[in-house]
Amino acid sequence: MTSDTILVTGAFGSVGAEVVRHLTGQGRRVTATDLDVPSNRRKAASFRRAGAEVRWADLTRDDEVHGLLARTEPMAIIHLAAVIPPFCYARPGLAHRVNVDATAALIQGARDLPSPPRFVQASSVAVHGPRNPHRHTGLLTPTTPLNPSDVYGEHKARVEERLMASGLDWAILRIGGVIVPEPHWHFDLDLVTFQGMLPVDGRIHTVDARDAARAFGTAATAGVPREVYLIGGDPTHRVRQGDLAPAIAAVMGLGGGLPPGRPGDPGRDQAWFATDWMDTTRAQEVLSFQRHPLPDTFREIETKVGWRRRPLSLIAPALRGYLRRRSAPYETDGPHADPWTEMSARWGSTATEPVR
Ligand SMILES: NC(=O)c1ccc[n+]([C@@H]2O[C@H](COP(=O)([O-])OP(=O)(O)OC[C@H]3O[C@@H](n4cnc5c(N)ncnc54)[C@H](O)[C@@H]3O)[C@@H](O)[C@H]2O)c1
Repeated sequence: MTSDTILVTGAFGSVGAEVVRHLTGQGRRVTATDLDVPSNRRKAASFRRAGAEVRWADLTRDDEVHGLLARTEPMAIIHLAAVIPPFCYARPGLAHRVNVDATAALIQGARDLPSPPRFVQASSVAVHGPRNPHRHTGLLTPTTPLNPSDVYGEHKARVEERLMASGLDWAILRIGGVIVPEPHWHFDLDLVTFQGMLPVDGRIHTVDARDAARAFGTAATAGVPREVYLIGGDPTHRVRQGDLAPAIAAVMGLGGGLPPGRPGDPGRDQAWFATDWMDTTRAQEVLSFQRHPLPDTFREIETKVGWRRRPLSLIAPALRGYLRRRSAPYETDGPHADPWTEMSARWGSTATEPVR
């Protein structure tokens, strides 16, 4: 018999933690699953205190997927586990096993349950491929053609297709750029280097992680239509790449700490990153998730950083010099950003894999 449990995969990630918080806050029965690694084990107590059950599983192992499903028999699965950019570029084999193979196993396992659950898949704006704002001046819609150009967008496009053909009850949420409303105490050099490679005039549609979590929660519990939903925040979340990272640095007290980036080449459609502004009208109508304008999220982070902003501001110039030196070996010549060439130089091929 199906339980009333919602199974959340990738539950200890940026979005997953907010999804678990949102659902347990609503009094829902939640099983949170992720890899059994020390950093997750440290966080598990707070999930349990909130009322969630925690079950460790490596989703690349079929036996663990089947065991998890057999024990949980969920009414819905919110599938967030993934290897995301830029890490999927550094480890494309692992990324394929997690993003494609494990998702396929989870879909198949869900189909095999006596009462197949609703399956809510975290997809990405990356399925639409590079977006040159000089060519694409309108907003992305759920029916904009898929045109993935990197392994990540390709992985997400493949699992969307597989889920739609699965016969399960599904919803697909294509997310823009998630902003976690917490200070970034953990400095991830790869992530900062990656952001510095993106054209400063590229368009990115962000969303507060809590609003994304609300969208996933509603998609899993409210019997919404089988559709693709574009998950971005209200219009304050439509920003330019070159404004976003410096704004985040500034609320941390690190204003001026990032080296300046370069604009994209208007004449080269492939030399842009795979993000754009989205028409979220339909998603908002059905999922009613947009609660946090971007300036409010930034103010919250700033408040949480508090007195530490002053000492942090003192290291901003040194940080800028350090990041400049770290990114110099990968930087291409010329006035324009060349993100895919630079990413390939840094992490290996980012290109689409041959179709299997
Ligand atoms: N963060 C964004 O801006 C963004 C944008 C678009 C789409 N998405 C999608 O949203 C989802 C959540 O993203 P996020 O930012 O929370 O990512 P994240 O990297 O913070 O979390 C992903 C989680 O998946 C888990 N995971 C990885 N491999 C696993 C495995 N083999 N077995 C079990 N768990 C495994 C990780 O441990 C991690 O906790 C992902 O599917 C991502 O592709 C995120």
